[in-house]
Amino acid sequence: MTILVTGGAGYIGSHTCVKLLENGYNIVVVDNLCNSHENAIRRIKELAKKDFPFYKDDVCDEKRINAIFDENRIDCVIHFAGLKAVGESVRIPLEYYTNNLDSTLTLCHAMKTHGVQRFIFSSSATVYQSGSPMPVDEKAPLGCTNPYGWTKYMCEQILRDIASADADWSVVLLRYFNPIGAHESGRIGEDPNGIPNNLVPYIAQTALGRLDRLHIYGDDYPTIDGTGVRDYIHVQDLAAGHVNAVAFAVDHKGSEEINLGTGIGYSVLDIVRTFEEVNNVKVPYVIDVRRPGDVATVYADAEKAKKLLHWRAEKTLEDMCRDSWRWQQQNPQGYRP
Ligand code: NAD
Ligand code: WQD
Repeated sequence: MTILVTGGAGYIGSHTCVKLLENGYNIVVVDNLCNSHENAIRRIKELAKKDFPFYKDDVCDEKRINAIFDENRIDCVIHFAGLKAVGESVRIPLEYYTNNLDSTLTLCHAMKTHGVQRFIFSSSATVYQSGSPMPVDEKAPLGCTNPYGWTKYMCEQILRDIASADADWSVVLLRYFNPIGAHESGRIGEDPNGIPNNLVPYIAQTALGRLDRLHIYGDDYPTIDGTGVRDYIHVQDLAAGHVNAVAFAVDHKGSEEINLGTGIGYSVLDIVRTFEEVNNVKVPYVIDVRRPGDVATVYADAEKAKKLLHWRAEKTLEDMCRDSWRWQQQNPQGYRP
């Protein structure tokens, strides 16, 4: 069985590619490398000890995508490719709507032309209306606060409509919580451009001395220690969730929204302390004002994934902090030589 992985050179895509290969799937990867590096593709091949076709193309390019489907017998698509920076999406919304919607529509057209009917989509916990009671399950009301979130919301709706119009389609909408960590080898991991927006890459670069100190955005939330609480999930667990989602898509029709989280919330200070302890490093920090748009607490109800995908997160916060640090230490400049 052959899976087309879009965005396979990216953070979550690269880990998923290794897991798919290890589980006996063939893969074909397309990525325009707008937020990644070709070295990630080399390292996927090195880790899995397998080769696969890689196309450096834009998923919005209809001609190229149709050519990829012509050249390979694709059974299922996992669509990771997309722009993902919340703040940037507020500044350049048109780029976000164009890239994230066009890529999804282009893929669906090509799939229809080529008789491919299994689609696994990278959605996000960001589609849940803020203020939902926690843990948040898949039936909670939806609503977004930024263009990035709306692109996920809109793609979900498009895919649900396609699946309800054609009973042969199988659509799995995976809503990720906060992916962190890296492959245990330290060979692949998250490689953000410029100063990281997300907590753990910021912590790792601070521990390395590339950044002075972490700014903790608020210590006056109604949480255990006043700092924001999130559901951090190891990227390797997330990758395993995709392998199970492929098996699910083979056996089921229709569409399903499924949370991929651990069901456990940790505060910013929990992460800082654990990172310091397991890695024996210092992470200097200051308390800053709240970041606009942030909420106090987000964590998943992870029961549906257990029931439908027979999957649950297994790695601990210690594993996540250790593996993030190993990747950062071994690759201080990310994939750049
Ligand atoms: P990433 O930026 O590391 O990976 C995305 C990849 O897609 C990159 O390699 C990029 O070059 C590629 N890409 C983007 N637009 C493309 C296009 N038009 N054509 C071809 N390639 C294109 O991001 P990630 O963290 O691996 O996220 C993967 C997916 O999961 C994204 O859709 C993201 O929105 C979603 N997601 C991520 C998180 C997170 O916190 N990392 C959380 C929830 C959902
Ligand atoms: C986590 C916690 C911050 C940075 C984002 C997207 C979401 C999803 C995952 C894609 C919060 C605090 C952070 C820092 C800090 N991505 N923090 N100092 O905001 O939960 O989710 O990534 O779908 O859509 O919004 O993740 O890592 O930015 O923040 O104190 O320098 O860390 O306030 O409490 P977030 P994050």
